[in-house]
Amino acid sequence: MRTSRWLKLVGLCGVIVLLLATVTNAAVQGELEIFSWWAGDEGPALEALIAMYEEMYPEVTVINATVTGGAGVNAKAVLKTRMLGGDPPDTFQVHAGQELIGTWVVAERMEDLTWLYEEEGWMEVFPADLLDLLSTDEGIWSVPVNIHRSNVLYYIPDNLAQWGVDVPKTWDEFLEIAPKLEAQGVIPLSVGENWTATHLWECVAVSVLGPDKYGQLWDGTLSWKSPEVIEVWELFGRILEYTNPDAPSLSWQQATDMVVNGQAAFNIMGDWASGYMSTTLKLEAGTGYGWAASPGTEGVFIMLSDSFGLPVGCRHRDNAIAWLRMLGSLEGQDTFNPLKGSISARIDSDLTKYNVYLQSAANDWRTNRIVGSLAHGVVANERFMNDFATVMDIFLASKNAEAAANAAEAVAIQAGIGR
Ligand code: GAL
Repeated sequence: MRTSRWLKLVGLCGVIVLLLATVTNAAVQGELEIFSWWAGDEGPALEALIAMYEEMYPEVTVINATVTGGAGVNAKAVLKTRMLGGDPPDTFQVHAGQELIGTWVVAERMEDLTWLYEEEGWMEVFPADLLDLLSTDEGIWSVPVNIHRSNVLYYIPDNLAQWGVDVPKTWDEFLEIAPKLEAQGVIPLSVGENWTATHLWECVAVSVLGPDKYGQLWDGTLSWKSPEVIEVWELFGRILEYTNPDAPSLSWQQATDMVVNGQAAFNIMGDWASGYMSTTLKLEAGTGYGWAASPGTEGVFIMLSDSFGLPVGCRHRDNAIAWLRMLGSLEGQDTFNPLKGSISARIDSDLTKYNVYLQSAANDWRTNRIVGSLAHGVVANERFMNDFATVMDIFLASKNAEAAANAAEAVAIQAGIGR
């Protein structure tokens, strides 16, 4: 008798749960347009998330709208036209920090997601510093899907052994071994198109300035024309002497390929390159490819975080909210990140699902000094980023450190950096 009552009760609860799920999912139908630059080689992690969403919400047709081009250089231009033209996608990839806050939040084009964070208990599972990057006094503006590290030096261990060189811990060491590599017909450091030069620049800047002074560039207390910053450009110029001449025509993947193929000894890239080598090229982290902090940045973690937000006036709001809920969940993050080459933004992630590189990154994330990436939207808004690309072009052509420092100061003032 008792057992049968129990069974009835359990059955009733089941029906209620099912009903609730149907009611909540009822609004989730039609289309969902997800906008990002995760196309082609960069696609597998996003595709795994989309597959998960399609299984949860079979009534929704997902439009995976991607615009190819590393660091979103092309996607962000398309997004700008759509956002300004009143045709936002339902949700889009945007970096935590100034790319989000100083670009779309100040323009009042994003919905406040504080209520979603409260409902999902996310205040407790995302680190406070990350929440700060996603927030203003008025709200929380996107959902982070990962943490990437920018200052990573990649190499192939067997190749280094064959060439008789060690992994450089400082730029002085790099400049010492570079001629030795060149003498063997090897490019010491591969670089790609313009934004990858900026990516390298931020790693050099952190090594010369250290994390505190690097931070002062963004709060306006260190002048862009100060001797230390000129020194960054000078060292950057010396390093570029040991890079491939066809850099402007290469994507980041092609620059990584040069290391994998043995044409180049090293490449500095974010850990999506680790994702590319393990997920796409099927190399084993640790043996197939090796990594270290970029020279002079041991103990510092230059971070960035990909997030997705809810633009004001998007067409399929409920579907987008369901996407954001899934994205922030433990399962969503632990499905996406092992494939992407990033770690979960959540503090409760299951590290057994991650390879040795990512386990080491997770450890560094907990213990290192954290600073924000320039090339990937943390410390500066879109306006500065676009203008800095021009400064970089000027430097790549002229190699004039003082002229670059002057130009950078002008664009920092125009973009309101530090104000
Ligand atoms: C970054 C982004 C990464 C990766 C990379 C290369 O800006 O945060 O997830 O996509 O660009 O395109």
